Amino acid sequence: MAANILDWTDSWFEKLDSESKADSAGSIAAKFSGEVADGKLPFCSMPFMAELMHDLDGLEDYVKSFDHMLLLGIGGSALGARALQKAFFPQQDQPCHDGPWLWIADNVCSKTLDSYLTKLPLEKTLVAVVSKSGGTIETISQYFLIREKLQQELGDNWNRNTLFVTDKEKGFLREQADELSIRTLEVPDNLGGRYSILSAVGLLPAMFMGIDYRALVEGAAEVFSPLAAPDLNADSLVNHPSFKLACWSAALMEKGFNELIFFSYIPQWACFGQWFAQLWAESLGKDGKGSQPLPATGATDQHSVNQMFLDGPRNKACLFLTCPSLPEGQPFPENIPDNFSYLKGKSFGELIHAEGLGTKMALSANNVPLVEMQMSSDSEESAGRLMGLLMAATIFTGWLIDINPVDQPAVEMGKLLAKARLGASGLQDEKDNLNAFLNT
Ligand code: PA5
Repeated sequence: MAANILDWTDSWFEKLDSESKADSAGSIAAKFSGEVADGKLPFCSMPFMAELMHDLDGLEDYVKSFDHMLLLGIGGSALGARALQKAFFPQQDQPCHDGPWLWIADNVCSKTLDSYLTKLPLEKTLVAVVSKSGGTIETISQYFLIREKLQQELGDNWNRNTLFVTDKEKGFLREQADELSIRTLEVPDNLGGRYSILSAVGLLPAMFMGIDYRALVEGAAEVFSPLAAPDLNADSLVNHPSFKLACWSAALMEKGFNELIFFSYIPQWACFGQWFAQLWAESLGKDGKGSQPLPATGATDQHSVNQMFLDGPRNKACLFLTCPSLPEGQPFPENIPDNFSYLKGKSFGELIHAEGLGTKMALSANNVPLVEMQMSSDSEESAGRLMGLLMAATIFTGWLIDINPVDQPAVEMGKLLAKARLGASGLQDEKDNLNAFLNT
């Protein structure tokens, strides 16, 4: 594994009682091995990967025959695709780009959907409906609207332009796929949305865009392979960066650091902050525990929320993402005024590097506990390492603070109440509760 994926930039690791967390490494290693063996952590052992690569190979020509992909999904079924798009294809929303184009509809927003429905040439568009459960109301409601439009415009062949990523047996999308002969890719059992970026959920849109999705997987596999080894033990776990990061995070939470900044100084990777926010918050926010993730982008947020990070409540720790080998860009010209002469001959790369150093030192000087995640490059492989590190660290942090990092019970209530409000059957209690709430 790249040696510098985690770089402890200050003495916080030693200052904290992380060592005592590491005392539990033996039991956590045993638990991890057991869960991997039982197929409960498929993102980490990736047993589905050979089959997925085979399926993606088989679909590549078909998928790439479309100019546009319209992805319908929400939460973990969309955030990974958007992070990859912004990281490796940021030019997609620039003028004159000649495709392919990925469009992500991940909300209940009629303006956005209407603009897609009126502007996209549907005969050249692949509609990818991504839902593990196959029944998420935000996604399925969009599907109903688009299905009708596809049927109107493309007639009997509308299903050629539709592909589902869903559970292999259960759910409404699986029934639709069987009934209407729609192509599918499977989301494996036990793979929750926020851990699914390296399944078909993230890799299908990555393949469509021309991202080297195999390298993403290889990068993550570097992180996972020591963990998925059958002889994982306390010694190997305590030295793994994901476990170190988890010990640091859990120890900070105990000390009242209940916010965690994800500060990206790889500007085009800023969207990984949104992806991480879901991963961390939905996995760890339980029983009054956890820390609130705060995605931030360097240098933009130096002119915004960084004031709060530096001098607001002393409850924030920071994951600081850098890459010293970012492309330098064009040098600044000689013809610039004296008061900016320090820029002459320097490059964008040097500017963002200097801004990152300044912010890192300012945070440290203000006693914000900080860990630098220094990537060796901004390649797909490095991104895979980062995702692997963060997913594994999330699991370990959850276990260290004694919660289940793979469920999300609290978010279910609002979803049920919304369905009850709309008149879904079997939700009378929820409907009564909602009415009582509305009448108080
Ligand atoms: O992480 C999660 O499990 C959630 O964010 C889901 O991804 C989200 O609710 C969408 O679920 P589904 O893929 O079943 O439509």
